[in-house]
Amino acid sequence: MKHQQDPLPAKGARSRARGEKACRPPKPLLITIDGPAGAGKTTVSRGLAAKLGYRYVDTGALYRAVAHEALRKGISPQDDSNLRRLCAGLKVTLKESPQGLRLMVNRRDITEAIRAPGIAMAASTASAQPSVRAYLLGLQRQLGKKRAAVFEGRDMGTVVFPDADVKFFLDADPRVRAMRRFKEMQHPPHMTLEEVEEEMRQRDHADRSRALAPLKAAPDAIRIDASHLSQEEVIRQMLGYICGGVRK
Ligand code: DC
Repeated sequence: MKHQQDPLPAKGARSRARGEKACRPPKPLLITIDGPAGAGKTTVSRGLAAKLGYRYVDTGALYRAVAHEALRKGISPQDDSNLRRLCAGLKVTLKESPQGLRLMVNRRDITEAIRAPGIAMAASTASAQPSVRAYLLGLQRQLGKKRAAVFEGRDMGTVVFPDADVKFFLDADPRVRAMRRFKEMQHPPHMTLEEVEEEMRQRDHADRSRALAPLKAAPDAIRIDASHLSQEEVIRQMLGYICGGVRK
């Protein structure tokens, strides 16, 4: 779906399944959802934000934006000093549109371009560089100031928003995650299931083992294993935690 759908932060519409009691927290919350690629974070985060009437921010898209710009300018995603210079000249913004938020870099719309093959791996490599993390840390905290938002990423609950009101860590079996990713790419450009699984394994390893802000669950995060749950079930569990009394 990352490949096909509007990939970015869509402003949450107030929607409610028929018969389901509304979950309206008494104050605007900042909710974080971390986890590895393919665990279903994007769909779940977007759905949860819609149920609550909150903004949804996909922070992976911000890392992809930096990687996209680096590749466009011939900068290696490992070259921290040139990435620092690149970030200094970037203006990354989220622009409202009738189709949801659009990702703009220096007034260019790169919402779709960041889903091209190769960008995910480049984003993972660039995300290990100190200058990129420092640049995006400021931007993400700025975006989180108003709260009433669901932030999805790798280090939301550990580094960016350690004071978040509710933290989730969403995981799933690697094979399930690879299969999900594979199905999301309805017309896989040139990848077999095994290749998707291998790319995911490499990216997971890089994201979990990097020195700065590695992917891990915050000690106070609620862990959900989505291997055998539908996305609706995951959202229902999350609403249960947020509004009390887990709903089945
Ligand atoms: O969520 P995604 O697959 O679009 O993220 C692309 C890469 O960006 C991911 O492999 C690691 C990096 N990333 C990160 O380091 N921290 C985040 N909060 C979000 C993404």
